[in-house]
Amino acid sequence: MAEFKETRWAEKDYVEQYIEDSNNIILERQRLLKILTSFYRHFGKGKKGCTVLDLGCGNGALVAELLKEDPTLLATLVDGSDNMIQMARERFKEHENFIYLGLSFQELMRSNIELPQSDFIVSSLAIHHLVADEKVELFKYIHSHLKPGGAFINIDGVSSPNDNIESWYQKLWKEWVLEKPDGASYEKRIEEMLEKHKAEEHHETLDPLKDQLNALREIGFKGVDCFYKYGIFAVFGGIK
Ligand SMILES: C[S@@+](CC[C@H](N)C(=O)[O-])C[C@H]1O[C@@H](n2cnc3c(N)ncnc32)[C@H](O)[C@@H]1O
Repeated sequence: MAEFKETRWAEKDYVEQYIEDSNNIILERQRLLKILTSFYRHFGKGKKGCTVLDLGCGNGALVAELLKEDPTLLATLVDGSDNMIQMARERFKEHENFIYLGLSFQELMRSNIELPQSDFIVSSLAIHHLVADEKVELFKYIHSHLKPGGAFINIDGVSSPNDNIESWYQKLWKEWVLEKPDGASYEKRIEEMLEKHKAEEHHETLDPLKDQLNALREIGFKGVDCFYKYGIFAVFGGIK
């Protein structure tokens, strides 16, 4: 598996383009964030000051949503991209007790860094960059860093059962982008995204949802389920 620094996420232009387009290019981005927030509200049971670990935080989009629910939460943000971590740091500069780790997941798992036990571990569109064995190792890491009763939710791309379904899921994705009022202006961008999605280095690390749910169950998560799915985009997780 390529080291993180060799991936496009290490490039500043690539990162900026992602942030600019994410709401228009990621299928049902706002719905995905609403599901994340609802999950947090339900499993947090109104507790304030929850500890949250965001794996592959990007510029902090998930934590920004969760702060609307609980402005007192304590976040640890991890991302392999220095540019992303810098943006997250700037975004949350008023939250002086947030922790930022500019590390790839592989580096984090190999390190002896002691992170606070979390009430929630969240991730969006990042873990699919790991190969299957690394995903399982990261799921174990997640389980061991959750408090009892703590909850894990992952928004991520997953592989399709066969080529025919995959081909339809790609069309579904494009149709969603184009059906928006200004969708036509994103035609070139969605074509680029689909090309990237189909490219070997991206596609080869996507894994079946079923395998990932089974891995979570075997590790000891309870209530494991797919909470939402639309084409290749799934929201899934479980409770420790
Ligand atoms: C599609 S972006 C998603 C960012 C953010 N979670 C969001 O939803 O806006 C994927 C993020 O995962 C990070 N990432 C990808 N592979 C990674 C790895 N192996 N270790 C750590 N971060 C990684 C990238 O740097 C990037 O910030």
